[in-house]
Amino acid sequence: MVDHDVVEKASQNLTEVGFLNIPVDKKIDLHAEIRRLKKEKNVVLLAHYYQQPEIQDLADYVGDSLGLSQQAAQTDADIIAFAGVHFMAETAKILNPSKKVILPDLKAGCSLAESAPPDLFRNFIEAHPGHIVVTYINCSAEIKAMSDIICTSSNAEKIINSIPADRPIIFAPDKNLGHYIIKKTGRNLVLWDGACIVHEAFAIDKLLELHKQHPQAKIVAHPESEDHLLKVAHYVGSTTGMINFVKRDPATEFIIATEAGILHQMAKEVPYKSLIPAPSHEDNTCACSECAFMKMNTLEKLYLCLQYEKPEVVVPEEIRLKALIPIQRMLEISKG
Ligand code: 13P
Ligand code: SF4
Repeated sequence: MVDHDVVEKASQNLTEVGFLNIPVDKKIDLHAEIRRLKKEKNVVLLAHYYQQPEIQDLADYVGDSLGLSQQAAQTDADIIAFAGVHFMAETAKILNPSKKVILPDLKAGCSLAESAPPDLFRNFIEAHPGHIVVTYINCSAEIKAMSDIICTSSNAEKIINSIPADRPIIFAPDKNLGHYIIKKTGRNLVLWDGACIVHEAFAIDKLLELHKQHPQAKIVAHPESEDHLLKVAHYVGSTTGMINFVKRDPATEFIIATEAGILHQMAKEVPYKSLIPAPSHEDNTCACSECAFMKMNTLEKLYLCLQYEKPEVVVPEEIRLKALIPIQRMLEISKG
């Protein structure tokens, strides 16, 4: 059982360790400097697919949330520089606490993580006694500490299927992923009302119009997207799953419904295939959706972060130990 006082105290202490706002000399070769600092300081640079292409190209590993967690858990580098959002860096710290974990911009949050404030989530759990709490990795360390098992978009179905059929389940914070998993597993999940602002921005009418113009194209979508979009998708999966589908499927044209950063690695994998970003509501010109949080990390901030080894991501030990258990459960179930 979670000690709510400990969680409460720790959430107040979950402070940011400074935010760098230092001008960077334009003459500096940032790519060369980042490579030098990485080597000198024995840093592993982990990047999510939604990072800007230049950062992805400098990274030692580029992947989805599950792959990044696995890399963070097993690295023997002294420093983990996380080019992603805060919950991802926090997960790295929870898994590998002896490493210094740095994030170029501590304000790189996530709309899903923000949708679940610890106090409200605690009340939600208390209102559903006896439920197993399965939480999507896109949440804060305090929320993980209140959870029984963590999941990512690549293993959510497997995690839910691992729970005995007679056990009621809370699934949080992404209601769209939750609805998708209800359909896939037939389980009756109690959903938290959270969503990703990027994936909810895709416009189904524009997407269908686009598909009319490219009738041979396969629609590939992330499960954080809304049900009406997932219904018309030929493939639904995590960012790594989407890349693998585009690689193995014989089609030569794909409409990609996720954050536009993924197109960089996808295009490298299948340079001879046509990748069309799915259109979003607010943008008629570039037809792309960008995660403003992910894009807070810039090359300049990454350089400063490596130079000064700040800002550092810290997780109070009581919270870390509680959050570690459901993450380890996830990693264990994901092995098989
Ligand atoms: P993946 O784990 O599929 O990379 O998803 C992360 C994410 O934040 C999607 O919006
Ligand atoms: Fe969060 Fe959505 Fe950005 Fe992913 S794309 S980090 S879910 S806001």
